[in-house]
Amino acid sequence: MSKRVKVGIIGSGPAGLLLGQLLHRAGIETVILERRSQDYVLGRIRAGVLEQGAVGLMDKAGCGTRLHSEGLVHAGVNLAFDGELHRIDLEELTGGDTVMVYGQTEVTHDLMDARAEVGAPTIYEADKVQPHDFDGQSPYLTYEKDGRSHRLDCDFIAGCDGYHGISRQSAPQNILKTYERIYPFGWLGLLADVPPANHELVYANSARGFALCSMRSLERSRYYIQCDLNDAVEAWSDEAFWDELRHRLPDRLAQCVTTGPSIEKSIAPLRSFVAEPLRFGRLFLCGDAGHIVPPTGAKGLNLAASDVHYLYEALAAYYRDGSEAGIDGYSAAALARVWKAERFSWWFTTMMHRFPDDGPFGQKIQEAELDYLVGSRAAATSLAENYVGLPY
Ligand code: APR
Ligand code: PHB
Repeated sequence: MSKRVKVGIIGSGPAGLLLGQLLHRAGIETVILERRSQDYVLGRIRAGVLEQGAVGLMDKAGCGTRLHSEGLVHAGVNLAFDGELHRIDLEELTGGDTVMVYGQTEVTHDLMDARAEVGAPTIYEADKVQPHDFDGQSPYLTYEKDGRSHRLDCDFIAGCDGYHGISRQSAPQNILKTYERIYPFGWLGLLADVPPANHELVYANSARGFALCSMRSLERSRYYIQCDLNDAVEAWSDEAFWDELRHRLPDRLAQCVTTGPSIEKSIAPLRSFVAEPLRFGRLFLCGDAGHIVPPTGAKGLNLAASDVHYLYEALAAYYRDGSEAGIDGYSAAALARVWKAERFSWWFTTMMHRFPDDGPFGQKIQEAELDYLVGSRAAATSLAENYVGLPY
């Protein structure tokens, strides 16, 4: 079976769905090919802090209603170290910017609902998706569904298929350049239906390792602790998790932790990764397909959103007035912002975690950095403007 569409999108994560919805509203039809089932995609638990730019894109996509009614606006974020809590007043330091706490799972849900409502097609459980001929004028995608082969001709291919996707793997490897840093620890995350320990997020640096107090709502908390890369999640009972978490928080905050049975518990490795360029002829890499950040600072989803912003503007201009300037400039524009978020996530990770090989000098530098940060308005402003998100 052969079909034609303007933009073929690989992957129905937040990047593919958001791009699809924005394009649909501009009258540009898309098909999304997704390897997994819809339930599988919706079952993934990921971060939950949206920059204002990402919120603005959800609005523009017509998907902002639930986000604005159920999302929590946070005007500040907290750093804990040396037994104390230090608040960074995001709103005051940035001249009015805040972040929105709203789970990525909910973002995905809202975007999927909107796509279903307008009747735009997503092929779930599409096997062996493969982009072809994107170095020419007539790219196409092939895939298998229920054992039958299909072909989808398109003007452009958006590779929104995450870090393990086929898009980056299909790019000419002699042109593709990658940059990577792997961190010597992981994050053990726990989700539970208990009220959050604090009304705002707390990033804690402690002698026993990093901890993060986050939330999905006023009734659902998300906590993380730095763990060994070799740890098995089964070896961490809920009780052991809660114990370790409280040991890593200032006493006053530890006393406010409400414990309860976990709904989800998982270990994620930490990685910084960037692929360059993000465009190969008529194939674009967008979101995790092109770059990964460690989760400290919650930039993953937000970077996917900023890529979508640049790619959407480029494609909309092309279909509106035939201009190829945005398409030609996509990679450079997206990467400029990607690298700044890579820097911020790397820096925030480095400042907050225990590194096995750091030694006493590294430890002292970390303490000085934290002390400087909470004592200097300039330093705190730098954190704040990056945390709320640099402008598009
Ligand atoms: N064919 C079709 N679909 C694929 C393929 C493939 N070969 N490989 C991967 N996919 C799908 C995945 O199943 C997934 O649903 O692509 C989707 C990619 O989604 P995400 O991994 O969520 O990536 P992205 O949309 O870029 O969102 C970035 O998600 O991973 C987090 O931290 C990240 O928050 C950030 C956000
Ligand atoms: C989360 O709520 O899952 C979360 C929040 C902030 C981060 C990372 C993860 O920096």
